[in-house]
Amino acid sequence: MPTPQTGILAPLPPLARSLFFALNPATDPRPALQALAAITDGSRLVIGIGPTLATALNADIAGLHPLEPITAHGLSIPSTPRALWCWLRGTDRGELLNHSRQIEALLSPAFRLEQTLDTFLHRHGRDLTGYEDGTENPEGDAAVTTAFTSTGTSLVAIQQWTHDFSAFDALSSDEQDNIVGRRRDDNEELDDAPASAHVKRTAQEGFAPEAFVWRRSMSWAEGQNGGLLFAAFGHSLRAFEVQMRRMAGLDDGIIDGLFRISQPVTGDSFWCPAIRNSHPDLSPLGL
Ligand code: HEM
Repeated sequence: MPTPQTGILAPLPPLARSLFFALNPATDPRPALQALAAITDGSRLVIGIGPTLATALNADIAGLHPLEPITAHGLSIPSTPRALWCWLRGTDRGELLNHSRQIEALLSPAFRLEQTLDTFLHRHGRDLTGYEDGTENPEGDAAVTTAFTSTGTSLVAIQQWTHDFSAFDALSSDEQDNIVGRRRDDNEELDDAPASAHVKRTAQEGFAPEAFVWRRSMSWAEGQNGGLLFAAFGHSLRAFEVQMRRMAGLDDGIIDGLFRISQPVTGDSFWCPAIRNSHPDLSPLGL
């Protein structure tokens, strides 16, 4: 029986590292992918296949496509489809570095490491702005049916968001709470939050049909910059996509307040294979 990659559902680790790879032209990715699958357990290492890689392999993965870039109302929400995502989960930066060097060597020369992003769990799951993140994630069986198909595969949308801490700090605490729609101090939802509040834009029950996602976002920091590596898993990309469109004001012209303090700088989608016999089952890719 195929099972999901357990790292997707597990509690977030203290540290993680995301590796985003591009496919080098005129190379056969199959031996590298087979070697990667052989060292992937779905827990310490979660992998995702991008739409460009699926296309290169002539594989038709249901529901996998590049994210739609959105330019509206002065916003620029990029689509940066990379071929392969490796999510290394751990507790020790040195282990993560050694593990990622092993993966890079194994995937070369077919794949080129395009971006490495170190992430961490901030204050038990708060965003760097101090707000609790993940409160309205589905629980128990609902989390499983939200995140996975019946065969244990999953699709994930990933965006790196860069915060504008100066813009955030310049706001009063009421204005900050109104951006999110929750009080930072006690995480209570605000009854009188404006329509632009993030939790109003993304209210999962407010879509028809409902649009639930399994969020597994983590903070990132490099020098004095930082933000959120947003990750939303689902049995399809639809829930993420309708939320993103509503955040960008494409439904009603109302833009999510979050854009006042943060901007997405990448946008990827990946198919996360199920585990069969302890390793990712890449047979849907023809491997
Ligand atoms: C800088 C980027 C982001 C930050 C800092 C952020 C932060 C938050 C916070 C603090 C909450 C409230 C607590 C919770 O339920 O988790 C929340 C809720 C939520 N966010 Fe985000 N978020 C970001 C981007 C996104 C994006 C891009 C999406 C999807 C397109 C999204 C989807 C959601 C959903 C579905 C909820 C729960 C809404 C509900 O049903 O109540 N978020 N987010």
